[in-house]
Amino acid sequence: MGFNFFLSLLVLSLLLKPLASQQPNTDGFYVSQFLQKMGLSSSSQLYNFSAPVCSWQGVFCDSKKEYVINLVASGLELSGSIPDTTIGKLNKLEILDLSNNNITGLPSDLWSLGSLKNLNLSHNQISGSLPNNIGNFGLLESVDLSSNNFSGEIPAAISSLSSLRVLKLDQNGFEMGIPSGILGCQSLVEIDLSTNRLNGSLPDGFGAAFTKLKILNLAGNEIHGRDFRFRRDEIHYYS
Ligand SMILES: *[C@@H]1O[C@H](CO)[C@@H](O)[C@H](O)[C@H]1NC(C)=O
Ligand SMILES: *[C@@H]1O[C@H](CO)[C@@H](O)[C@H](O)[C@H]1NC(C)=O
Ligand SMILES: *[C@@H]1O[C@H](CO)[C@@H](O)[C@H](O)[C@H]1NC(C)=O
Ligand SMILES: *[C@@H]1O[C@H](CO)[C@@H](O)[C@H](O)[C@H]1NC(C)=O
Ligand SMILES: *[C@@H]1O[C@H](CO)[C@@H](O)[C@H](O)[C@H]1NC(C)=O
Repeated sequence: MGFNFFLSLLVLSLLLKPLASQQPNTDGFYVSQFLQKMGLSSSSQLYNFSAPVCSWQGVFCDSKKEYVINLVASGLELSGSIPDTTIGKLNKLEILDLSNNNITGLPSDLWSLGSLKNLNLSHNQISGSLPNNIGNFGLLESVDLSSNNFSGEIPAAISSLSSLRVLKLDQNGFEMGIPSGILGCQSLVEIDLSTNRLNGSLPDGFGAAFTKLKILNLAGNEIHGRDFRFRRDEIHYYS
């Protein structure tokens, strides 16, 4: 019995070996932990976890092949809440696209990714509110959280996102007024806040704040005071 037990342990460890082959505390380890803990299933043949992370589909690394710069894992049926010590540890990450999965929650260490430029979490089932920590993403150029289950207020700390060009928070349950902090996002080209539960009036100065704005969609909310002045010929405005 003891021998058989030992044998099954040995077989088991051999079977599991390819899954555990990334060195701990490397970007390859964090990405493989993420994919496996999120139940990568039908698409698992896309990944060879024994090979270097930089060769995996949707992964782009720095020139020394040490750090993951882009991670695109869209439409892989990843499901559940993202655990800490996975993607939140990819300190050099600039592009994160996890759209079209069944993700339900975000890890608290996500907000430490200060290099992030593009974040796309659209078409998941993420619940809860957006923390003010989003203000840590000072280099963020595009954020798409559309078609999720976010609730609570849009955090005032978005005022720190001065490079933000695209803000898509549509098809969620965001509540209360649009924070005046949005006036700090002076690079915005597209704002889509449609189909939420936003109310109140637009912050003073909203009409003049965004000199580069091309698309503004506020439809499907309870926002009042829309009589601000736009250069309407230049902006596609949906109310
Ligand atoms: C996976 O990668 C390892 C290491 O690069 C390689 O030896 C092995 O042949 C690969 N397996 C498949 C199925 O491609
Ligand atoms: C993901 O969600 C879709 C629609 O909500 C559902 O049909 C599908 O079964 C889910 N897939 C997984 C892997 O949970
Ligand atoms: C986010 O991903 C979705 C689905 O993959 C795509 O349609 C959308 O354009 C992306 N958003 C941005 C801002 O690129
Ligand atoms: C959406 O979030 C609310 C709480 O804000 C929760 O009660 C509800 O179950 C969530 N729905 C889904 C589909 O996750
Ligand atoms: C906005 O909606 C909340 C409930 O979701 C309500 O408490 C608040 O009074 C509303 N504010 C305005 C200005 O209508």
